[in-house]
Amino acid sequence: MPDITPLFSTPIYRDKIFFVDKEKSFINDKLPHLNYQGYDSGNGKTTKEKNFLDRRIFRRIKCEIVEHVKNYAFNVLQLKKINLYITSSWINKHDSGDFAQAHVHCNSIFSGVLYLDVPNENCGKLIFHAPHSLPTFMTSTIFPDVENDNIYNSRSWSMNPVSEDLFIFPSHLLHSVERNNSYQSRFSLSFNCFVKGNVSDVKTMELNI
Ligand SMILES: [Fe+2]
Repeated sequence: MPDITPLFSTPIYRDKIFFVDKEKSFINDKLPHLNYQGYDSGNGKTTKEKNFLDRRIFRRIKCEIVEHVKNYAFNVLQLKKINLYITSSWINKHDSGDFAQAHVHCNSIFSGVLYLDVPNENCGKLIFHAPHSLPTFMTSTIFPDVENDNIYNSRSWSMNPVSEDLFIFPSHLLHSVERNNSYQSRFSLSFNCFVKGNVSDVKTMELNI
């Protein structure tokens, strides 16, 4: 087999955060009864609260998320030390039939989603999309059919989430979530991260924010 280099990639980070008993109790008992409001799209609901990870019950989970974000930034992407912090975090509630249309997260550099309570079957996949303005191995002018999808030839990629899954990805990456085709609600926690302080010491790119 030849050696293939997946050059100029958009890495998606996936790991698990296992919930402890008191977190499971909160997720099972309290999560369905939070103060939700409908998204402007008219599809799915979200908490009015936009700093959910600052709740005491989520303190341990927040620490774990921060460690995963650091792992993504400093071990996977090999960034020099920058000061990353979570700017916002909220709960999504998708009832039966709800989905999340393709979107990006503005005013954020890395985003993530932690699946809190997901139906076992037909919950809907998380899908990442390459915008058509972005050529991959080819532009959209000519795009031959492919025999088998793989990470070299695909312009979208699906992940099948289960409860306790964590995903981290660049915030500009277009993503959507399929329709929840189960009879149970799907609950996830989304978050955004930004950088503060020194971003670069390179002479022509110096930036301190
Ligand atoms: Fe999102």
